[in-house]
Amino acid sequence: MSEQQAPLLHAVDLKKYYPVKQGMFKPEAEVKALDGVSFTLERGKTLAVVGESGCGKSTLGRLLTMIEVPTGGELTFQGQDLLKHDPAAEKLRRQKIQIVFQNPYGSLNPRKKVGQILEEPLIINTDLSAKERKERALAIMAKVGLKPEQYDRYPHMFSGGQRQRIAIARGLMLNPEVVVADEPVSALDVSVQAQVLNLMMDLQDELGLSYVFISHDLSVVEHIADEVMVMYLGRCVEQGSKEQIFANPQHPYTQALLSATPRLDPEYRRERIKLTGELPSPLNPPKGCAFHARCRFATERCNQEQPKLKDYGDALIACHVVDEQKQAVV
Ligand SMILES: Nc1ncnc2c1ncn2[C@@H]1O[C@H](COP(=O)(O)OP(=O)(O)OP(=O)(O)O)[C@@H](O)[C@H]1O
Ligand SMILES: [Mg+2]
Repeated sequence: MSEQQAPLLHAVDLKKYYPVKQGMFKPEAEVKALDGVSFTLERGKTLAVVGESGCGKSTLGRLLTMIEVPTGGELTFQGQDLLKHDPAAEKLRRQKIQIVFQNPYGSLNPRKKVGQILEEPLIINTDLSAKERKERALAIMAKVGLKPEQYDRYPHMFSGGQRQRIAIARGLMLNPEVVVADEPVSALDVSVQAQVLNLMMDLQDELGLSYVFISHDLSVVEHIADEVMVMYLGRCVEQGSKEQIFANPQHPYTQALLSATPRLDPEYRRERIKLTGELPSPLNPPKGCAFHARCRFATERCNQEQPKLKDYGDALIACHVVDEQKQAVV
C-alpha cells in the first residue's frame, strides 16, 4: 500500500494491561485497562472516544501518543509501524502525533512564560534559531487567538479557556497531523467549552488536522465528531458515524449514555434510561458481556459469553441482543 492510500492512523487490537499488587499474600493481578481496541482515523477527521470514567479512554490516548507502550496490538501512521524501536518511528511519534490534556491548570508549567512553554518542543526537536522559534510561537499564538503581548506572561495570568488555548498552541508547535485531545474542555465552563471546540474545528479545517477526541460526555462530541467509538471497560461496544450513533444508537449502553445527554432537538429527546449499578472493576471483570449486570435486555447468554464486536454495515456493535436481531456483514 502506498503512503497516500494507507490510513493516517490505524490501530489494531491495542491492549494495555497493568500489573497491580493486591496485598502481601496475593499474587500480582492484571488490570485490563484497554483490551483490544481497533480503529482507523482518516486525514482531517475526528474520532470521538466516549465512555464512563475508568473505561480506558486516557489509556488509549497514552498509547496513541506513546507516552506508554502497549501490551499488544499494532499501531501505524500512514502505513509505518509506530511501535518499532528505531529513530524514524521515534521521529514520527514525536512530531506527527501530539496530545492536549484536560487540565489547563496542571499541564502548563507555572514557572515558565507562554513563549518558553511553546518553544520547548522546538528546542528539543528542531534546530531552529531563537528568532525562528519566537516567530513560530507568535504565529501559532495568533492562530489560537492569543495576542503577541501575552508571549511574556505566565499561565496563572490567564483564564481557563485561554490556558487551554496555550495547551492547544503547544500541541501544534511541531506541525502535527494527529492531535489526541483528552477531555480538552471538561474543566471549562459550558460557554467557554463552545469557544474552545469552535477553535479546534477551525484549526482542523485550516491545518487539515485529524483528532482523536476523548470525552466522557457525548454532548461535547456531537458537533466535532465524524466517527464515535463508545467504550465500556476497556473495549469498544459500538462504533459508527456520528449521525448513526446519535440518531440510532443500538448498543444498550450507548442508548443509556445518550438518554442521559441533554439534547436540544426534540426529535431526539427520548425516554431516560437509568443506568443502575456500578461500573465493574477491570481488575475483576464480570463473565460474559461486561455490561450485562446493568443491561435491561440481558439474557442468560449475556451472562456467560462475551459478545464479539461485529460489523452490521451501519455500525460495529458488540451485543448478543443486537446480534440476534441483525445480520452481521461477513
Ligand atoms: N498506571 C496504572 N496502573 C494500574 N491501573 C491503571 C493505571 N492507569 C490506569 N489504570 C486503570 O485502568 C482503567 C482505565 O483508566 P483510564 O484512566 O484509561 O480511564 P478513563 O476512561 O480515562 O477515565 P476518566 O474518564 O476518569 O479519565 C482504570 O480502571 C484505571 O484505574
Ligand atoms: Mg481519562
